[in-house]
Amino acid sequence: MRERLLAAEKVKSIEWLDGRLNLLDQRKLPVEEIWCSHDSAASVAAAIRDMVVRGAPAIGISAAYGLVLAVRARIADGGDWRQALEEDFKVLADSRPTAVNLFWALNQMRERLDRLKPGEDPYAALEVQAISIHDSDREANLAMAQFGVDLIRRHQGNPQNLLTHCNTGALATGGFGTALGVIRAAHLEGLVERVYVDETRPWLQGSRLTAWELLGDGVPAMVNADSAAAHLMKSRGISWVIVGADRITANGDVANKIGTYQLAVLAMHHGVRFMVVAASSTIDMALENGEEIQIEERAGSELLEVDGRRFAADVEAFNPVFDVTPADLIDAIVTEKGVVERPSAAKMAELMSRKRLH
Ligand code: MRU
Repeated sequence: MRERLLAAEKVKSIEWLDGRLNLLDQRKLPVEEIWCSHDSAASVAAAIRDMVVRGAPAIGISAAYGLVLAVRARIADGGDWRQALEEDFKVLADSRPTAVNLFWALNQMRERLDRLKPGEDPYAALEVQAISIHDSDREANLAMAQFGVDLIRRHQGNPQNLLTHCNTGALATGGFGTALGVIRAAHLEGLVERVYVDETRPWLQGSRLTAWELLGDGVPAMVNADSAAAHLMKSRGISWVIVGADRITANGDVANKIGTYQLAVLAMHHGVRFMVVAASSTIDMALENGEEIQIEERAGSELLEVDGRRFAADVEAFNPVFDVTPADLIDAIVTEKGVVERPSAAKMAELMSRKRLH
């Protein structure tokens, strides 16, 4: 399957070229395909905060490249570059709070710095590290696609109707995608009748990004309002809800795009299976459970305006952009290390003790 998946890779959103970070501006898709070029940590942090790049793995990869840009600039400035770099770590870490991949990637970069040998070029070392984070995310996507497809096939062989939320595809990762990677692979295996795509208010990652990726792959897809989910599960024979994650805690609770939790509750009620797909870089064993996850709240204007024009009454808005799905509503967490069914703290610990596949 690996070769088929690699052949199906078309879209990418992150490119490291000639010492610059190029990002496909996801705010403009699908109307325009515009790439922005970044040459400083501050500019990468702004791109993360402003949603030029989004999706937990893509944010982590971008932050790693941001650090590469930073080390070059700090060394050129002279003085104590290692001390000065702390500012860049902070600027990047402050860009968005919920996806742990950002902090995981910055940690990997810090550990690499701590291992520098005397005389070793810090820029070259960090560049290799960032590229390796990027490449291993791509590899993880391929492994997860295989595990996810096996799971779908094991439970029901016929072409199935699937429901997904937000965007977890090539745009959100370094490769094929997490949840959308499983869906794309399942399509290649003839297992998909149709994918229902939650539009995903308020940024519309579903109707703008996921639908665009699926159409590009020729996968039968239909967008629905987020609030249609219960009706869909009741009337359209959905067999799996498949979503990604921004942070998974030690007990298997999952933070993901706002609206995921209600899908899990609905899935339980309707007997629909619920699959979370995320690389082990999304698992935060330092947090015991989902209550400890910081949930990002963004400006109310994201809910009250369209294209900068207000359509709502003169009212305040509550705009949390993630929620936490409790582990006991999840059938399976698919990672590149393997699959955890009916997650628990013991099963998560066992998974994380397994060696990385790459
Ligand atoms: O606010 P976003 O678009 O960054 O949120 C993205 C999600 O919630 C995704 O489901 C998650 O990051 C997984 S992406 C592989």
